[in-house]
Amino acid sequence: MAKILVNNNGPLFGEVKISGAKNAVLPLLAATLLTDETCVIEGAPDLVDVEVMKKMLLNYGASIDTSEEGVIKVTAEEIASVEADPEVVQEMRASIFTMGPMLARAGKVVMPMPGGCTIGKRPIDLHLKGFRALGAEIVEEDDKVIVSVGPEGLVGDAIYLDFPSVGATENILMAATLARGTTIIENAAKEPEIIDLANLLNKMGARIKSAGTDMIRIEGVEKLTGCIHGVIPDRIETGTFMLAAAITRGRLLIKNGLPGHVRPIISKLKECGVFVDATPEGILVDATEGELVATDIKTLPYPGFPTDIQSPFMAFLTTVKGESVVRETVFENRFMHVVELNRMGAGITTWNSSEATVPGGKKLRGAKVRATDLRAGAAMVLAGLVADGMTEVSEIYHIERGYENFVGKFKAIGADIMKIDED
Ligand code: EPZ
Repeated sequence: MAKILVNNNGPLFGEVKISGAKNAVLPLLAATLLTDETCVIEGAPDLVDVEVMKKMLLNYGASIDTSEEGVIKVTAEEIASVEADPEVVQEMRASIFTMGPMLARAGKVVMPMPGGCTIGKRPIDLHLKGFRALGAEIVEEDDKVIVSVGPEGLVGDAIYLDFPSVGATENILMAATLARGTTIIENAAKEPEIIDLANLLNKMGARIKSAGTDMIRIEGVEKLTGCIHGVIPDRIETGTFMLAAAITRGRLLIKNGLPGHVRPIISKLKECGVFVDATPEGILVDATEGELVATDIKTLPYPGFPTDIQSPFMAFLTTVKGESVVRETVFENRFMHVVELNRMGAGITTWNSSEATVPGGKKLRGAKVRATDLRAGAAMVLAGLVADGMTEVSEIYHIERGYENFVGKFKAIGADIMKIDED
């Protein structure tokens, strides 16, 4: 099993370039199933999850050209199969983002029920509620869900999301582009990745209005065409490297990140006394001066504080003066990293699965820890950057799913970090 070894090498200084967003490129790739023409996705990050999504598309019958670095050309000229490959779905929950496009393009999709994961049960009831509202019939048999539409195809409708689910908004948005009539998604997710997806779909000839607000309007069209589209930068990778500067008391210039996508992180770091400035060259994060202090964070759907930055931010809070309270409201089990941070001497107390008290002011000690999810893995590396003694992070396949060249980027800014393959 591969591991990451990290030692305290003092403050990090330098520049880091943010890659394309994992949580944008996955729905963008799924959307290419909506047309028989070629879609060109530029600025795609080199991630395990992207490889898995490519396998999903190939399984449905698409052809894929990746001869140009960072560019993925998908042509789903014919849909050869409506059955998702169970083994591939098992690898990545975001495979379900292909349900909406398949329903709209082929009128049917057979999807193994996606499992939960360490951070929660992650049901898909809101996705299915949307498909049902558009006229689909849903049959759950064995461990599969079969979604199909009659000869009249999908018909637009008003859909209220009980929770502003990112995935459900994306799936329904994609299905509605080819539905007859108008679809309104109420209480829609407002994440930047939704806007990026709507921009791609509108380039393909869809008629989507007010993506990024809590009410999205889609006028169905007959057919969609191919397009060329660049992926937005990854706001969670941006936040992760902002925290790398903060936790090591260093100074980093984060290039290609969009300040407008990380406002809660900028605000909270400033509350802790970190200097942050959005310059024309990139986001400058300088934690070399002054004593940093505690703050409280509460995760919320966008534009609130992002749940994906909760664990990396918690690692940072263990090192500042004073007590912080961290509340997780999006996922029901996203404190798995607390046990790992406490192995390093963080002294965190959790009051239930949604509230934790971080005493702060700790000098962490290196330890053998696990990456309990993608973002928690990054949090453990951040903690290892400032701990006394070496930290060994195992189960790092989580990290490689969602961060491009993770170890290489940290090495380039002075971190004492390496990946080892150990059986
Ligand atoms: C997306 O997951 C992201 N993944 C997650 O990033 C991110 O944490 C999450 O949005 C929230 O921002 C991708 O985009 C690939 P949700 P998604 O549907 O769409 C409940 C990472 O680390 N819910 O907004 O699955 C659900 O259980 C990953 O990059 C229902 O109850 O998130 C959760 O508690 C982790 N029923 C909450 O909503 C549904 O039908 C938020 O889930 C759907 C969701």
